[in-house]
Amino acid sequence: MTVILSDLLITALNEIKDSKTLAGLDDIRVHYLGKKGKITAQLKLLGSMDPIEKPIFGQEINTTKKRVEDELQLKKAELKKSTIAKNIETSSIDVTLPGRAYLSGSIHPITATLMEIESIFLSAGFMIKDGPEIENEYYNFSALNIPENHPARAMHDTFYVGSDLLLRTHTSPVQIRSMEKEGVPIKVIAPGKVYRRDSDLTHIPMFHQVEGLVIDQGINFSHLKGILHGFINCFFEKELELRFRPSYFPFTEPSAEVDILSEDGKWLEILGCGMVHPKVLENLDLDSEIYTGYAFGMGVERLVMLKYDIKDIRVFYENDLNFISQFN
Ligand code: PHE
Repeated sequence: MTVILSDLLITALNEIKDSKTLAGLDDIRVHYLGKKGKITAQLKLLGSMDPIEKPIFGQEINTTKKRVEDELQLKKAELKKSTIAKNIETSSIDVTLPGRAYLSGSIHPITATLMEIESIFLSAGFMIKDGPEIENEYYNFSALNIPENHPARAMHDTFYVGSDLLLRTHTSPVQIRSMEKEGVPIKVIAPGKVYRRDSDLTHIPMFHQVEGLVIDQGINFSHLKGILHGFINCFFEKELELRFRPSYFPFTEPSAEVDILSEDGKWLEILGCGMVHPKVLENLDLDSEIYTGYAFGMGVERLVMLKYDIKDIRVFYENDLNFISQFN
């Protein structure tokens, strides 16, 4: 049934004019122009209309449709604008609020210390070397003159990952690998991770060491003492008294452990060292009558603990930001 189009138009235009929200406006659009809309229904009637009336009515519907579409468009723009204006008015920004804190990462104290140690030794003419953390028994033990029956080789001290493969228990295998590769004379340090089956207040299964190795003609124990004095004073940023206490390592002879004198008068062990054992050099076909040298190995966590008076080694690996960020 055809309707009086002017009435339809007037109602539609009034509804558009009165609508207050974008959603409401869209309902109106559907109501008139949607698939089952009132204007659409009139368009559908055209097909069955008298051919004489058809063009006139057709034109009328089209005009009505166009007018409704135009008004919807205008109203939509108007409503959008006022919504934005309302939002600006109600959600004002409080410029006096404090800013959001920007959390930046920091370098882990062990990494920072390794960098510091490296730079001290670089300035003394050392080169930096590294080696694999998974080693075989030859490099970790045999080449270092550690005998078959030595307790360090036992399963309960060492993490084995295969019949002949293990997680290196010290950085000393890098001595051997460096001499094999570079020959002598040589002057290197080798920082890195080492692994032992140990866990308590002062031991963890993975920790860091820095190995040192110097081989040349005429190197003697006083060179070793000199370099360690220099390093320790630099690292602790003060003159510290050192004590070289006789000790034993299969790969050095003589061997010593070095202690520093703490402020409360206690001797604290900080590293192991010695003159490279002739057997180590001979294993590499180097003439131990011509070449001599020294080696040392220190625990990095231990050095940091002594420097900052930290009592529990485990704090380094608990990832507590309150602890870690103090070293920024
Ligand atoms: N490798 C020894 C350890 O882990 C330390 C050391 C290195 C001792 C070099 C002497 C010479 O205990």
